[in-house]
Amino acid sequence: VGRPNKRGKSASNDREANRAYHDRVAGRYDQIYQGPRWDVWYELSYAGVKPYLPVNLRDPVLDLGCGTGYFGLKMARSGYDTTFSDLSIGMLEAARRKVEEQGLTERAQFLQADIMDLSALPENHFALAVAQGDVLSFATHPPHALKEIRRVLQPGGVLVASVDQTYAALEHYAEKGDLDGLDDLIRTQEMQWLARDQRERFTVRTFTPNAIRDFLEKAGFELLDLFGKTVLNLKTLEPVLDDPASRRKVIALEKKLHRRSDALGLASHLQFAARLRP
Ligand SMILES: C[S@@+](CC[C@H](N)C(=O)[O-])C[C@H]1O[C@@H](n2cnc3c(N)ncnc32)[C@H](O)[C@@H]1O
Repeated sequence: VGRPNKRGKSASNDREANRAYHDRVAGRYDQIYQGPRWDVWYELSYAGVKPYLPVNLRDPVLDLGCGTGYFGLKMARSGYDTTFSDLSIGMLEAARRKVEEQGLTERAQFLQADIMDLSALPENHFALAVAQGDVLSFATHPPHALKEIRRVLQPGGVLVASVDQTYAALEHYAEKGDLDGLDDLIRTQEMQWLARDQRERFTVRTFTPNAIRDFLEKAGFELLDLFGKTVLNLKTLEPVLDDPASRRKVIALEKKLHRRSDALGLASHLQFAARLRP
């Protein structure tokens, strides 16, 4: 867990910077990610979770890197016993407040934990784990985080997660003319979270579609679904998303495109569902 990343920064520096950043933004996170663009984003994200909700309402589910609780709240509202977990106590508190407001306390547990260490959770327990919004990209060593998830999933349990996509990140450095950044990204698949404050900068691990396949296979998971999120650039399309009919059209077009294997490299993120081989 204490190993340096490919740029030599220590994992604990990265973790503290990551925690500091997320603690600071927790209070305004929902405000940052509101509006039609993010409604479309969350609708597409949840459409990739829904098919994997356990058939049995008594099966417990886990929201890793729950943030302010979007996915966990949806699952708790559907009737599942839901564990909300996050590295940031600020995020966890925001999720807890919503759970209380929505009268879901009886169905919710909270755990402050790094996805790199889920030892506080029981083994073979959850039928579904959700890790949306880059939590695996923020982990200091994603293969280790995946082992932790494997331990807490029931045999045959499912993980639905989204991560940053390597080829979309190229543009981020190209725009700035940052050739060293480009070189690093191509060599290591790692990039830096560019918070203004140096103490909030941390390493983000990106994945290509093939890297996802390899990553899951090695950890004993069977890939069930992989799509780009999003292949259409929702930021560019933002001006048309205020109109509900256009918004539906964009969602329909995105769904036509986002499982085409040769379009995956256009998406800023990749979302996958994978079943733990029994
Ligand atoms: C982009 S937000 C996504 C929040 C939520 N899942 C969503 O999709 O709305 C990423 C979340 O992951 C949490 N996080 C980052 N690194 C983590 C880690 N190593 N372990 C657990 N949670 C982490 C952050 O605190 C933050 O709440």
